[in-house]
Amino acid sequence: MRIAVSGSIATDHLTVFPGRFADQLVPSQLHHVSLSFLVDDLEVRRGGVAANIAFGLGGLGLAPLLIGAVGTDFGPYEVVLKEQGVDTSGVLVSGERQTARFMCTTDQDANQIAAFYAGAMAEARDIDLTTLIGNAAPDARPDLVLIAPNDPEAMLRHTRQCRELGIPFAADPSQQLARLDGTQVRDLVDGARWLFTNEYEAALLLERTGWTRDDVLDRVGTWITTLGSHGARAECADGTTLRVPAVPDVPVVDPTGVGDAFRAGFLAATARGLALKAAVRLGCSVAAEVIRTVGSQSYDAAADRLLANLTAAYGTDAAEEIAPYLAVVTREGGDSS
Ligand SMILES: Nc1ncnc2c1ncn2[C@@H]1O[C@H](COP(=O)(O)OP(=O)(O)OP(=O)(O)O)[C@@H](O)[C@H]1O
Ligand SMILES: [Mg+2]
Repeated sequence: MRIAVSGSIATDHLTVFPGRFADQLVPSQLHHVSLSFLVDDLEVRRGGVAANIAFGLGGLGLAPLLIGAVGTDFGPYEVVLKEQGVDTSGVLVSGERQTARFMCTTDQDANQIAAFYAGAMAEARDIDLTTLIGNAAPDARPDLVLIAPNDPEAMLRHTRQCRELGIPFAADPSQQLARLDGTQVRDLVDGARWLFTNEYEAALLLERTGWTRDDVLDRVGTWITTLGSHGARAECADGTTLRVPAVPDVPVVDPTGVGDAFRAGFLAATARGLALKAAVRLGCSVAAEVIRTVGSQSYDAAADRLLANLTAAYGTDAAEEIAPYLAVVTREGGDSS
């Protein structure tokens, strides 16, 4: 089963100011601030929701198609994604703008001054799935397209094009929910095979759409809501709700990208034919690996680590049920499903 992931591709540029911002601000001169901080430790981290999820799927042995817009600075990032097994042929390279970039400086008191440059992401709306996917050979067509946070026009366009092409899609509006109106959110969600939110976004989605929980469940296949350290819940139209606890006792080093890793684990499991409960468990297991590491693409999705998490959280039988599916990945290093 081939999965395509449409969404943001970005880098985080993080610096540390070894002083206090407050000491540099002169209250009487705030009307013409002109400050420059000499910073230490520039760290560039790979990120962007679609790139994170594609990275995770690649690490689990699938060969996901990444769809998004970047700048000509994407070269070194692309190398890493390709090494991970990600197909980057769906990435549009802008001739004018650089890849989306989050720039943040943190001071000694953990105060932050940040800016997000959307850059080339705005051009994701120019990517035409009808051309990219519709004209592909039948065996190269994705069986599922995940629509992750991105330029809102791109999210809406790609969702509509999935409907027109008859390709199942998953809706993952996440942080973009805040800037979408009710009509747009309804358009992104209606008819999704899977809907992903965290707990806050689940409430925001109901508020934005004006739908009840049942209205949502009438319109999507299954609604998966991640609950942070409480794990995740899956709600189905037939009224069943499944609750899966998180992996216990995970040292929280850096939670960035944890939701994306969950989606990668979940989707890899469903792509390989695992049932819902096992898929949610694998999602939690992959998410636990991200929390232990700094950044959202520095973790190791090796089968033995994932199995250790599964055993700790759900017992030996649960781990043994999933093990053969992970073994396929480890043995062949590719998507054999
Ligand atoms: N403290 C924790 N310990 C173990 N697992 C966790 C913890 N926090 C999160 N997880 C795992 O990660 C999954 C996703 O977490 P969460 O609901 O916080 O996502 P999120 O809010 O979308 O995060 P983000 O958008 O920052 O990536 C959870 O379902 C759970 O499996
Ligand atoms: Mg999230």
